[in-house]
Amino acid sequence: MELNLDLNRDIPVLDWESYLATRTERMESSAIRELLKITQNPEIISFAGGLPAPEFFPLREVEEACCYVTKKAGAEALQYSATEGYRPLKEFLAHSMHKYGVPANPENVLLTNGSQQALDLLGKIFIDPGQFVLTGRPTYLGAIQAWNAYQARFHTVNLDEQGMIVSELEHAYEKVIQDSGRPPAFIYVLPNFHNPAGTTLPQERREKVAEFATELDLPVVEDDPYGELRYEGEDIPPICSMIPERTIYLGTFSKTLAPGLRLGWIVCPEKLMSRFVQAKQGCDLHTGTFVQYVANDICQRGILKPHVKRLRERYRERRDTMLDAMAEFWPQGASWTRPHGGLFLWAKVPEHIDTLQFLKERAIKEKVAYVPGIHFYPNQDGGRHAMRLNFSYADPDTIVEGSRRLGKALKKGLSE
Ligand SMILES: Cc1ncc(COP(=O)(O)O)c(C=O)c1O
Repeated sequence: MELNLDLNRDIPVLDWESYLATRTERMESSAIRELLKITQNPEIISFAGGLPAPEFFPLREVEEACCYVTKKAGAEALQYSATEGYRPLKEFLAHSMHKYGVPANPENVLLTNGSQQALDLLGKIFIDPGQFVLTGRPTYLGAIQAWNAYQARFHTVNLDEQGMIVSELEHAYEKVIQDSGRPPAFIYVLPNFHNPAGTTLPQERREKVAEFATELDLPVVEDDPYGELRYEGEDIPPICSMIPERTIYLGTFSKTLAPGLRLGWIVCPEKLMSRFVQAKQGCDLHTGTFVQYVANDICQRGILKPHVKRLRERYRERRDTMLDAMAEFWPQGASWTRPHGGLFLWAKVPEHIDTLQFLKERAIKEKVAYVPGIHFYPNQDGGRHAMRLNFSYADPDTIVEGSRRLGKALKKGLSE
């Protein structure tokens, strides 16, 4: 082959799209990230992101921990380290799972770059192209995004005010077998303060999931980023405590400490650990050593527990503020969940309002934003008249004003 290009004159443009792997066809940039760009306008009150309140981040404690770690652990804290994670932190996390009845030990724990990485690793390990995942509708957008990249398909069961309608799982399972001739990769469950629905799965339903998974010999992925942020009622044992040998539990420091630390963990049967370790090594070798040492110092010094207690009080106040403001300003015909914890509530509006269109044409004009429900439906087969509202990020006065603006826009939309 003769090459006669003059690179000083002809600057060839590569057609990158034609070189991309087929799997990228299913990779979309997260609707929420796109939305966050629009809502960066400071005049817009955004209930769209899932952001914790930055004013509650334990800045001083993190600063102290950084100094302590740098002095005490020195260079070790800046060195490469084990893929599984920092042993003392694994011990702390395993121990903290005992209070929920999960028989974890450090060998069951793997530190990850946030739960989002755990979701991606799950896709890498469990999902063949075209394979199904069984989940609720709506479900966590970030999970849909992570697993779409592995060419997953989804069969879903409906949610009611108590979360996943577990009695529908059998039918969904049959559809999976019919459509693919093989079982789903796993059942994906969001037990506490569901993102986006705000629901909490009662103990009987968790037991039913455990029974169903055992009977059909399926793995369960239990994603629990919000469990610690309970504002009322009693803790309910996780599914992982009922069937630890077939559950992969995901936890994170994102909502209790700070999401910028990018620190989460997987609790899984020891047998599976080497698979996660292999998958993670290919991604990033290990989670940042320094950040693990810092989080460990905060945990071991007993700072986390009182911090989370304060967070609960403050977020409870914000939740109640939003619920009260919606009751005052929203039109008849709209309804919403009353979450017992977490960061979100899920609102439904009368059928002639399409929340995707309404956001662009009305809400943004009133300078308020939310996430349209359709984004949380992996098969885009619902959520047209629903929206997710975050109540953790804005301060109480802003929550009232944003709820008022949204109520006003909805009333206008309904009167036309
Ligand atoms: C249900 C759910 N899973 C996982 C994540 C990812 O969390 P992390 O910040 O730990 O990656 C989130 C974040 O909002 C979430 O809501």
